Amino acid sequence: MRPTPVLLDCDPGIDDALAIAYLVAEHLAGRIRLVGVVCTAGNVGLADTVANALAWLDLAGAPPVPVCAGAAGAIAVPHVFTPETHGPRGAGHAVLETTTTRCVDPRGGAQFWVDAARAHPGELVAIVTGPSSTLARALEREPALPGLVADLTVMGGTFRGHPGNTTPVSEWNVDVDPEAADAVCLAWEAARSADAELAAPLWCGLNLTERAVWTPERSQRLLAASDSPLARQLTAALRFYFEFHDSVGEGYLAQVHDPFVAWLALHPEMVITEDSHIRVECSGEHTRGMTVEDRRGHRGRAGNARIATGVRVSGGPEAVLDEVFAAIVSLR
Ligand code: BDR
Ligand code: CA
Repeated sequence: MRPTPVLLDCDPGIDDALAIAYLVAEHLAGRIRLVGVVCTAGNVGLADTVANALAWLDLAGAPPVPVCAGAAGAIAVPHVFTPETHGPRGAGHAVLETTTTRCVDPRGGAQFWVDAARAHPGELVAIVTGPSSTLARALEREPALPGLVADLTVMGGTFRGHPGNTTPVSEWNVDVDPEAADAVCLAWEAARSADAELAAPLWCGLNLTERAVWTPERSQRLLAASDSPLARQLTAALRFYFEFHDSVGEGYLAQVHDPFVAWLALHPEMVITEDSHIRVECSGEHTRGMTVEDRRGHRGRAGNARIATGVRVSGGPEAVLDEVFAAIVSLR
């Protein structure tokens, strides 16, 4: 059987870096084929997310996968950067070298989404761990995209009354570009009204991803297991993420949403989900960026989302991170 083609759209980002390393490990183990990495402006600007993705791919020993620059900002509003979360360049305390061997694919992120989906119709597993800004632009170029992608997994939003991490009701990836996230909701709603067999995107919000906690003890174990430059830089980056979480009252630890979500995308049978319909609030003074779920069918629309509510893994999210950890340790 051919390994599943996987596209990662990310905004590295410290936990994005763990997702990149995890997916490279899965690729090298022959379990997936990482067909490309799209970089979107996120907590830091596009130039930094691209440079960071290239550097983390180098450190992870990735084969020459295409890396594409996607959207440089949000659709409707000036982009908000948050250097306090991932560091001024998006890599915390890591010192990343400029790649000497990789080039940026000239197509651009939105076109790469379209090309990858057309090249693998009904097969591509797509993972978004940053704002949906590039995906929204890809949907403008190819409205048939939802029918071409086999599975879309998004780290975004917060559900079931779980509080936001950016406003009381919003999660950062959605909050920074709500119009883009809502475009994703609308695109899959339209596609599923025409073909109910299409898989609805898996939305992994803070209600679940905040349970994926990387501790300093896990970083120590990573360094003990692997004295590689990758392990050293990842743990340096994570140290900044611990400090950030500590500064906002979460304790000296890090919620590592993105590698956790990458694992969920590769193990859909292990995710507990509920079918739902979601829209993103784009105008409310106090609610902009909120992912608003219609659990009672008030809107009378075709379902456009599967909400991740848990994992079918004994040991829960901690055991999932054990698997992510083992994959990263396998990279020498
Ligand atoms: C999301 O926001 C970013 O800071 C993280 O990388 C993650 O993708 C969590 O809200
Ligand atoms: Ca991210």
